[in-house]
Amino acid sequence: MSKDATTTPHVLFASAELAPMVSVGGLGLAASGLVKELTDQGSNLTVVLPDYGPSIDGFTEVDAWSLPVPPWCGPTLARRGAGPGLPDVILVSAPGIERPHPYNDPSSGIAWPDNTERFFAFSAGVAALCGSPDDGGVEPDVLHLNDWHSSATVGFLADPPPTVLTVHTLGYQGVTDAFWMSRVPHRSWLFSWYDVANPLAAAIRTADRVIAVSPNYAREILTAEAGMGMDHELGAKGTALVGIRNGIDTSIWNPATDPHLPTTYTARTVAKGKAAARDELLARFELDEDGASIIGVVSRLVDQKGIDLLMHTVPYLESMNARVVLLGSGLPDLTAWVRQIAADNPDRVAAQLDAFDEPLAHLIFAGSDLFCMPSRFEPCGLAQMQAMEYGTPTIATSVGGLVDTIVDADVDVAGGTGFLTTTNDLPGLVDAMHRALRAFGSTQRFNRIRRTGMKVDWSWTEPAARHADLYAEVLAEAQNS
Ligand code: GLC
Repeated sequence: MSKDATTTPHVLFASAELAPMVSVGGLGLAASGLVKELTDQGSNLTVVLPDYGPSIDGFTEVDAWSLPVPPWCGPTLARRGAGPGLPDVILVSAPGIERPHPYNDPSSGIAWPDNTERFFAFSAGVAALCGSPDDGGVEPDVLHLNDWHSSATVGFLADPPPTVLTVHTLGYQGVTDAFWMSRVPHRSWLFSWYDVANPLAAAIRTADRVIAVSPNYAREILTAEAGMGMDHELGAKGTALVGIRNGIDTSIWNPATDPHLPTTYTARTVAKGKAAARDELLARFELDEDGASIIGVVSRLVDQKGIDLLMHTVPYLESMNARVVLLGSGLPDLTAWVRQIAADNPDRVAAQLDAFDEPLAHLIFAGSDLFCMPSRFEPCGLAQMQAMEYGTPTIATSVGGLVDTIVDADVDVAGGTGFLTTTNDLPGLVDAMHRALRAFGSTQRFNRIRRTGMKVDWSWTEPAARHADLYAEVLAEAQNS
């Protein structure tokens, strides 16, 4: 047996999304970027996802068996196989999990009414996979949970393996009726939170490490303001709460190799490459070149992302000689409102809101002059890193991972990579836009800002290595206890 096989912990990595098999937002992208890089670095991972059925892309089944789960879950299968670039994937298949979208009815945007059942059943399957091979399990050395969807796993295990929980967002905790506590066979008291059941709280309470997806988010969530009711639980973790910023998948997000761009480019050829992408972006939205600066946005349309704040800047765009080009999908009301604003202001707002269009996202990152992320809260944020990789400085609110990844160019003249609001409100955003556009008007200065952002290593290389260290740490602690 090779040395690696004896020293590398086997990690069961549970997530509700993993790009490109199933991906709604940042969770899917972050999970796949991390898993790919960990695998490349020699980690031994089995990924476990809910079996959403035909909406899962690129899965090839090799083997299937039934899992021992509580009777209310219904007959549950583990389907093991491979996904794109992923050698070892298990889909947990239980009645009700299969849907065309992981969380919402795509026709209304409204959450499936049985999401608690679906993700508790998924969690029961994940727990069963922690068992011995005689009982259908894969007996991992370390269990890595992501967000609330797999958090209930801790209630289906009497004696869980060393556990790491990543909090991608505290915005969704899976809060549900208290009677769900009686449906988890072990340590159900962990789920008790005020007069409801809270699976995320249960996983936070038991995990050996809680990872927040950026160092600044790890600090913010200890406050009542950003803790979303979890600040006490998180505070109790002490040094077991760590912040590790996400990376981006630089094999996909790289202007030097990007097949979706009219011409590829590097930091040296950025001006030429971006000019070609800009022309194509204007053509794509049937916009005339009127000299207005293009502020790009690629975002889910949900409250967190602050798109309403951005829409309130539209009356100022004319005097700023700027226009917004937006790609997004999400909440029906917000989508309809943005659509109306775009229709009323065709020279100022161009929007593609029907469906997420990956090639267009690449073109927006490359072809925009500036990028904008006006998030209310942002655990890490990936789009600002993608934008910087493409030489597009970002205007952002001063929250979460945006603060860790963007250096304000008016505060740090030599090291600036973008523009951060001083107050997270409309005047603050308009001020940051003004400052960004002023910098854009000064070619030499703007080129420096652009290149500084492009030179940063936004890949998963270092963040993944830190995850591997954590796996080894929690395993060593468990073995020594
Ligand atoms: C969530 C967060 C986002 C983070 C992503 C991946 O989508 O909102 O900030 O980057 O998860 O961790």
